[in-house]
Formats: sequence, structure tokens, C-alpha cells
Amino acid sequence: MGRAAIGIGVGARAGLGAALCRRFSEEGLHVFLAGRTQERLEAVTAEIHAANGRATPVVADTTVAADVVRLFDTAEESEGPPELVAYNAGNNRFKPLLEMEDEFFEDLWRLCCFGGFLVGREAARRMLPDGGGSLLFTGATASVRSRPPFTAFASAKAGLRAVAHGMAREFGPQGLHVGHVVIDGMIDGDQLNRRFPQFKQQKGEDGMLRVDAIAAAFWGLHVQQRSAWTLELDLRPFKEPF
Ligand SMILES: NC(=O)c1ccc[n+]([C@@H]2O[C@H](COP(=O)([O-])OP(=O)(O)OC[C@H]3O[C@@H](n4cnc5c(N)ncnc54)[C@H](OP(=O)(O)O)[C@@H]3O)[C@@H](O)[C@H]2O)c1
Repeated sequence: MGRAAIGIGVGARAGLGAALCRRFSEEGLHVFLAGRTQERLEAVTAEIHAANGRATPVVADTTVAADVVRLFDTAEESEGPPELVAYNAGNNRFKPLLEMEDEFFEDLWRLCCFGGFLVGREAARRMLPDGGGSLLFTGATASVRSRPPFTAFASAKAGLRAVAHGMAREFGPQGLHVGHVVIDGMIDGDQLNRRFPQFKQQKGEDGMLRVDAIAAAFWGLHVQQRSAWTLELDLRPFKEPF
């Protein structure tokens, strides 16, 4: 048995999920990457293998409990309980409230909040008997501030934050370090650069959060000594107004 990490919400190679998994593998962990698209997971896996890291792609929908259990089973059969789990799924979508269908609101909640609960519960079930580890959640500005047209996204992200805070208080004393990372700015990654390529130029040098810099912060949380744990970390570019 080795040391394992699970990253949930991995898509494009340029995205945060991929960067988290790359960093965890660089630190010597066997990374289990989960997302819904086989080809994208395989591309990130190939990149990690090329750097002599260990990675296993697992196609899984984080809103489906059976998928989450299968993901943890796959990791555990190979390496035992993971020492680090990162919940990164949570694609932002927005719409004016008066035009919002019930499904739109509910789907966002399933991805951004319910999936985090499913993963957090499974992580606690597997990791607590093993002495604990780290369970880290990706937050957003919307986790702590609700504004139109992001009201549905914000309500789901605030819910995820509540899951993280509740779990930290319940399971911290048993050795599970729960961290919630508020990403308070635009990520210089696939999502925005593909959909809104103008932002990068508008923001200027280091005006968007670099995925490798965020991944370094996640790793920093994981290796904190338990007499001084962080529950919530907020990250923003140096010139971001807030
Ligand atoms: N982008 C930003 O500017 C920004 C700003 C603040 C906070 N954030 C937060 O950062 C995180 C995402 O990082 P990112 O924007 O760089 O995106 P990313 O890590 O590149 O992408 C996340 C991946 O999650 C996967 N995913 C979506 N639904 C899923 C599901 N039901 N089950 C499993 N995987 C699923 C998607 O891939 P598939 O479609 O292939 O499954 C998607 O590519 C989110 O928590 C987001 O709220 C982003």
C-alpha cells in the first residue's frame, strides 16, 4: 500500500482540478482523478505519467452516490484509504432569477453542494478509521457573497462551505483536517480562457489566479501541523479589488 490522493472535478489539463492532481503526484502520492470525461482524464493522467508520477483516471459523476463509492473503492483497493481528498467540482453558471427554471437551480446545487456532501461523507467514512488526513474543498467568491446573476451558484457554494465548516467541527478532533479554499478572483485556466479570452488581457500580468499557485496553497494546507490548522483560506490576485 502506498500513499493516495483523490481529486474530484478534473477536466481540462489547464484547469484547477488537473493542477491539483499534478501537484499531489509531484509530492509522491498516487492520484486518483475523477471527472465525467474519459478522454480528458486520460490526457491529465498521461501528463502525470510522463513526469514519472502515479495516476489513475476514474470516470465518475460526483452527484451520484454509487459513483463516489466506486471511486473511493478503486483508490482503496490499490493504496488503502487516501490521505488527501480534494473536492473541486463546481462549474459556474448564471442566469437572471426570473428566467431561472427549477432544474437550473437544482442542478447547480447537486454539483456544487450535494456532490461535496457525498464526497465528504465517503472520505470521512474511509479516512477516520485510518487516523484522518485532509479533506479540501474549492470555494469561490460566491461562497461568501451572493450577487445577481449568480444567486443560484452562490446558494450552492454557500451550502458547500457549510458542509465544510460542519465537518471540520465534527471530525477535526478525530484527525480529519477539513479546509475550504475561497478562490476570490478569476482562475487563469481552461474555463475562463476558453469562454472569455478577453479577461486575461484585461486583468494583465498575474491578474488571474495561476492554477499551480492555487495547488501550492492546497498542498500547504495538507502539510500543516495539526496544532495550527486552517479551516478557511482565501486567495486572490495581488491587484484584485475586494
Ligand atoms: N474558473 C474560475 O475563474 C473560478 C473562480 C473561482 C472559483 N472557481 C472554482 O474552481 C473550481 C473549478 O476549477 P476550474 O474552473 O479551473 O475548472 P476545472 O478544474 O478545469 O474543471 C472542473 C471539472 O469538473 C468536472 N465536473 C463537472 N461536473 C462534474 C460532475 N458532476 N462529476 C465529476 N466531475 C465533474 C468537469 O469536467 P467534465 O465535464 O469532463 O466532468 C470540469 O472540467 C470550482 O469549484 C469553481 O467553483 C473557479
